[in-house]
Amino acid sequence: MIFEASAPSNIALIKYMGKVDGAGNLPTNSSLSWTIEDLRSYVKLTHRSDLPKDEWAPLEGDHLAQIQLNEASRERFLNHFQSLKSELGVQENFLIQSANNFPADCGLASSASSFAALTMAAVEALGEFNPSCRDLSLGERAELSRKGSGSSCRSFFGPWSLWFKEGVRPIEFPMHQLLHQVIIVETEKKAVSSSQAHQRVTTSPLFAGRTDRAENRLAQLMNIFREGDQLDHWRAAFEIVWAEFWDMHTLFETSSPPFGYMLPGSVQILRWMENLWQSENDGPLVTMDAGANVHLLYRQDQKALAHKIRGEFQKEFNIFQCNELREETR
Ligand code: PMV
Repeated sequence: MIFEASAPSNIALIKYMGKVDGAGNLPTNSSLSWTIEDLRSYVKLTHRSDLPKDEWAPLEGDHLAQIQLNEASRERFLNHFQSLKSELGVQENFLIQSANNFPADCGLASSASSFAALTMAAVEALGEFNPSCRDLSLGERAELSRKGSGSSCRSFFGPWSLWFKEGVRPIEFPMHQLLHQVIIVETEKKAVSSSQAHQRVTTSPLFAGRTDRAENRLAQLMNIFREGDQLDHWRAAFEIVWAEFWDMHTLFETSSPPFGYMLPGSVQILRWMENLWQSENDGPLVTMDAGANVHLLYRQDQKALAHKIRGEFQKEFNIFQCNELREETR
C-alpha cells in the first residue's frame, strides 16, 4: 500500500521565535504566514511488513530535486513518524521517501513543508490500520505536525495561516494573490539551527517584551490586511513586517552568546529595499527567516517591479520566484 502527500512551504510575516517550556513546540507568541504554494515537499509512504523498522530514502521524480538527509535530519524525520504511529496506535513499518521541488542546497528551508507532507501522508497511511485517524480534522492534523516542526502546522492552510494559542487556522483577507520571490544569499547549512535559536533567544534581555511586541504587531497587521492592499495599507504593512524581522534578528544578536544570520549580501539587499521605499514610497513587503535570504512579497500590480528587482540582483544571487512570476519571464 502506497500513500502520497505534498505540502507547501510558508514564510512568516509575524514570526514564531521562542517556545513555551516543555515538549510539543508551543510558541510564546502567535504567528502569521503566507503559504508558498510553489515551494513544496513530497512524501511517499510504502507499507513494508518485511522491514524491521521504518526507513528513509530519497524520492525520485521528474519535477523533484533529489535530497540526501544527513543523519540528524533523517533521525528527526523518522522520530516524528514514530511519534505519530505511537500517538495513533499503529505499529506497522513503512519506507518513507521524500523530496522537494527545489534543490536542497539552495538555502531554502524545507522543514515546514516536509514535516507537513509527512504528517499528511502518515495520517492517511495509518488510517488503514486505525480508521479513526480519518476522522482527524485538518486542524488536528496540523497540531500533530506541529509537534514535529512548529512552523509546519501553518503549511496546512493557505493563502494565510494564523497560529495562535488555541491552535492553527486559515485566515482570509480581502486581498489578491500575492507574488513571492526570494533572493538566495546563503546556501550553506546554518551554524545555529532554528531549534537552537528558539532556545538561545530566551537569554536576550529583549526577550522579556517579545510576546507583547509580536502580538501587538499581529493585531495591527491583521487590521491593516482586513482593510485590503491599497497603497496606504501596504505601506503600513511593510513597516510592521520590516520591524518584525529586525526584532527577531535583534534577539539573535543580543542573545548570550550572540549569534546571527545576516550576511553582507543580506544587508546590501535590505539597503536597496530601504532606498526603494524611500524614493518610490512603495515596494515589496520584505522579510527574513532565521537565515540570510531575503523574502519579498508583491501585490499583483507590482509584477514589473518584481522583474526589475530580479534583474538588479540576478547576476550576484540566485533568485527563486513563484510560478506566476516565472512564467512571465519565459
Ligand atoms: O519550525 P521551526 O522550529 O523551524 O521554526 C522556524 C522559525 C522561523 O522560521 C525563524 C520563523 C517562523 O515563524 O517561521
